[in-house]
Amino acid sequence: MLSESMKPGHFLRRILAVFAVVSFTGLISASELTLYTQRHYEFDEKLHQLFSERTGISIVVVKAASDELMARLQSEADRTPADLFLTADGGGLDRAKKAGLLQPLPDPAIANAVPATLKDADHQWVALTMRARVLYYSPDRVKAGELSSYEALADPQWRGRLAVRSSSNAYNQSLMAALVEANGAEDAKAWAAAVRGNMVRPPQGGDRDQIRVVAAGLADVAIANTYYLGLLATSEDAQDREAAAKVKIHFPNQDGRGTHVNISGAGIVKASKKAGDAAKFLAFLLSNEVQEMIAENTFEYPVTTTAKRSELQKSWGDFKADAMPFSVLGERNAEAVRLFDESGWE
Ligand SMILES: [Fe+2]
Repeated sequence: MLSESMKPGHFLRRILAVFAVVSFTGLISASELTLYTQRHYEFDEKLHQLFSERTGISIVVVKAASDELMARLQSEADRTPADLFLTADGGGLDRAKKAGLLQPLPDPAIANAVPATLKDADHQWVALTMRARVLYYSPDRVKAGELSSYEALADPQWRGRLAVRSSSNAYNQSLMAALVEANGAEDAKAWAAAVRGNMVRPPQGGDRDQIRVVAAGLADVAIANTYYLGLLATSEDAQDREAAAKVKIHFPNQDGRGTHVNISGAGIVKASKKAGDAAKFLAFLLSNEVQEMIAENTFEYPVTTTAKRSELQKSWGDFKADAMPFSVLGERNAEAVRLFDESGWE
């Protein structure tokens, strides 16, 4: 007996359906770009749509952690469908470059408005957005003057008062890499052990959850990225908006090397045959218009010298950013992971 799918009528309908999908795709997009991306922000979909409307180039997204995406690029080699590799961490971009997975921008001039510190010297990657990893505190339970640096969070005065996510997270690994670079491995490991000892609970959840825990009164200080405060403050969820109103930002290390910043950025995949279209997409993301849309919607800081910060970002205040090159974050990643493990920070 023939199964349902083998019956002649069904088979014909399947062929027609496949044909319809192929011709429909052919009609609406002359070409497409495939992104391997660690970015996870809803607003990105709107940007992809806008780019498609303007250029006729549609965007296909494959989302995963940057290490997974890199492993995939390595195993797929020349057969990869990926055209662009995007991360939410500068260390990942540097590692992709050193693994030979990227190619130089066909026209480096598209990144002219990006300062030299926010792009690769060989034009293999460019930052698209910037974020600072800051301290969030409850003004009811912490005086602004009590906070100073990441290092000071190791002090016993914070016992049972801190909330930070897992050490498997790229943002924490890059912060740890920066601390290793600034203070040395032994010092950074001791710091991680002390901060872990000061946490109110084992690391869990994402950056937003750490801010929520401070707002709920469970912890007094959290470490999280700046844009998450914007996302909570503009959330459709009233509880998140209330949480955002209950915390304040402290930019640490202002008296020293500056607050640890990180970038989200991209490079064109070495095996991509669509470098021209990929560069068009990067130029679009670096345009003043889109940089300011990002500042207003994902609340990541613009990276070009011409785009302005949003009003909400301005309300958080100006700060001195650590000028440590992002290549250091990539080079020190493995060491940071090992030291985290040895420190007991899960
Ligand atoms: Fe994020």
